[in-house]
Amino acid sequence: MAWGWSERDVPDLSGRVAVVTGANRGLGREVTRYLAGGGARVIMGCRDESSGEAAAAAIGAEYPAAILEVQPLDLASLASVEKFASGLAGEPRLDVLGNNAGLMAVDRGLTADGFELHMGVNHLGHFALTMRLLPLLRETAGSRVVTMSSMVARLGRVDLDDLLWERRPYERWQAYFQSKLANLLFTFELDRRLRASGAPATAALAAHPGGSRTGLGNTGGSWSNRVLPGWKLFCQTAAMGALPFVRAATDPAAQAGEYYGPQLQVWGPPIRERPSRVSRDPELAAALWERSEALTGTRL
Ligand SMILES: NC(=O)c1ccc[n+]([C@@H]2O[C@H](COP(=O)([O-])OP(=O)(O)OC[C@H]3O[C@@H](n4cnc5c(N)ncnc54)[C@H](OP(=O)(O)O)[C@@H]3O)[C@@H](O)[C@H]2O)c1
Repeated sequence: MAWGWSERDVPDLSGRVAVVTGANRGLGREVTRYLAGGGARVIMGCRDESSGEAAAAAIGAEYPAAILEVQPLDLASLASVEKFASGLAGEPRLDVLGNNAGLMAVDRGLTADGFELHMGVNHLGHFALTMRLLPLLRETAGSRVVTMSSMVARLGRVDLDDLLWERRPYERWQAYFQSKLANLLFTFELDRRLRASGAPATAALAAHPGGSRTGLGNTGGSWSNRVLPGWKLFCQTAAMGALPFVRAATDPAAQAGEYYGPQLQVWGPPIRERPSRVSRDPELAAALWERSEALTGTRL
């Protein structure tokens, strides 16, 4: 018998449409599997289309009725984000935007637009995607924007004077922590802005997966990247780690502005999480929002 909120609690999602970024592997693939298994049509935003097609085929083998569509999306390129969003122009609805994709503790690098990779992919790419898809989301009653953060967001500090690591010596872990705190600041600021605009059709929520056994962080060249697979032996499966995100995206009882994570922080079924005080700082969030608008050239 399942302990806590589980796959069995995913409601009937027939007729709903979801976008999931980084849907080809890891947590995004599991989120896609749950949403498609529940009956939603899932548009899989994938940087590597062939790996996306392989994931879609595997999910289709498990759920023959799954409706999956792979679309190219590289969050390290604002042009790619724009192309992906333009491709959804004819969609009649969008119920869930799942901002899941991410990278962790990678070697120093820049996106096509010159942004430091963690901030560029994890935060700014998703910021731009959300701004572009919000008109469609706001036309869909009950729609949700769910953004993946991390328990290590608590260790992050957003440095507005050097958001993109142009002045400080690059520090791969702090760069990751900052981007994951940015994911939360973004969610709560989006929530405030949607509420301020009247009776919002769209809700913003966040989730974190605790520690989940995926390939995240395996590609960097430091000793810390090399020891990560050892730590992951103690982590939960990706299928379990995806549940907080799925709960935030689908549980009818989940409310705008909420944050979900595993019951025992690293492991366990999804429960409502208490966000850190700094992640709820409205002044910091507003300043980050304005900077993100300026950097991405997008607006609400
Ligand atoms: N695993 C954990 O314990 C853990 C803990 C806390 C938070 N998280 C968060 O969970 C999310 C998913 O991570 P994961 O564990 O599933 O890692 P993963 O297995 O490494 O998957 C990451 C996904 O993000 C995609 N991605 C990376 N860069 C991209 C880009 N430029 N454009 C589009 N997609 C891109 C990857 O695509 P490719 O296959 O093309 O590389 C892949 O699909 C991340 O936001 C991460 O910060 C994970």
